[in-house]
Amino acid sequence: MSQIPPPMAMLAELTHRCPLSCPYCSNPLELTAKDRELATEDWLRVFHEAADLGVLQLHLSGGEPAARRDLADLVAGARAAGLYTNLITSGIGLTEARLTALAEAGLDHVQLSLQGMDAATADRIGGYRGGFDRKMQTAEWIGALGLPLTLNCVLHRQNLHQLPRALEMAVELGARRIEVAIVQFYGWAMRNRAPLMPTREQAREAERLVREARIRLKGTLVVDFVPADYHGDFPKRCMNGWGSVGLNITPEGTVLPCHAAQTLTHLTFQSVRDHGLREIWYDSPAFNAYRGTEWMQEPCRSCEHKLKDLGGCRCQALAIAGDAAAADPVCQKSPAHAQMQALAEQYSTQAPSPASSRAAGMADHTDLVFRENA
Ligand code: FES
Repeated sequence: MSQIPPPMAMLAELTHRCPLSCPYCSNPLELTAKDRELATEDWLRVFHEAADLGVLQLHLSGGEPAARRDLADLVAGARAAGLYTNLITSGIGLTEARLTALAEAGLDHVQLSLQGMDAATADRIGGYRGGFDRKMQTAEWIGALGLPLTLNCVLHRQNLHQLPRALEMAVELGARRIEVAIVQFYGWAMRNRAPLMPTREQAREAERLVREARIRLKGTLVVDFVPADYHGDFPKRCMNGWGSVGLNITPEGTVLPCHAAQTLTHLTFQSVRDHGLREIWYDSPAFNAYRGTEWMQEPCRSCEHKLKDLGGCRCQALAIAGDAAAADPVCQKSPAHAQMQALAEQYSTQAPSPASSRAAGMADHTDLVFRENA
């Protein structure tokens, strides 16, 4: 236990409820209903347990966290526990008064998502008419309150051409940071690989634009980048290592090493309703399953990169290679790498099929399957 460092960051998925229905939502396909969400006092207890455990940063997420009417109380409670608080929001459901209350409660930072860089694109992809204009209004309020702002843009085949505009908008809106994330295929995105998969050319162009922007905007804007891993040859160090620096808590209190961990159905994940956070972090079989390198098999076990990437993503290994302990198929040494590249090629060149959206009228000309709601 003494060799396991404490977690630095905790993602609290306060709710799965959300006014948007993004087709790449990382929430699970089976969403948690409102009446199964943790109550205010449960979350406050968990925030104190997290701070005692060593967590420094708390990311308040969802779904849309503004759907929780007790959001300001949760922020105040997290601050009282000594946590740095970051709100990850679509902006929908926040008014100027609510944002002011959150700032007064001690909110440290806001991360605002953009589904597209103009109203037509953003509202179509988010499945919410009028959403883009409300986000722009929210960004203005955030700036007026002096809250540090990060823009979060999930990019895919249908909006990657807007990356240059995303970088411009981040500067115009006074953001200090932009997170440019090419869609990762978990949860709802997995159902939408065909319409969302970027082409290889788009993936390479995004890398070039980010490299160029990091030089051009140095000192003005920090550009974080998550590349298109289906088109890659080296896996990402997913979650910075399983059970290594962060943990996620679902709306009903299940504690996970990553947002997609429940796809690993051979593991049992414990709940803060029944166990202390410290016990779960250090002693639960699920958190210890893929810690460090002992669990690795070939080609990871003897690989010179194993401490760098820690074998990549366990959830992707299971989804593509059929074994959560296998090398991430993104890796060129993985026996499933060719299969991964074939999937990237197949999906990225697939023509759109007739609409199958559940967000009525919002996606008449795409084959996006939109997220349902909790
Ligand atoms: Fe679960 Fe990568 S998303 S380990």
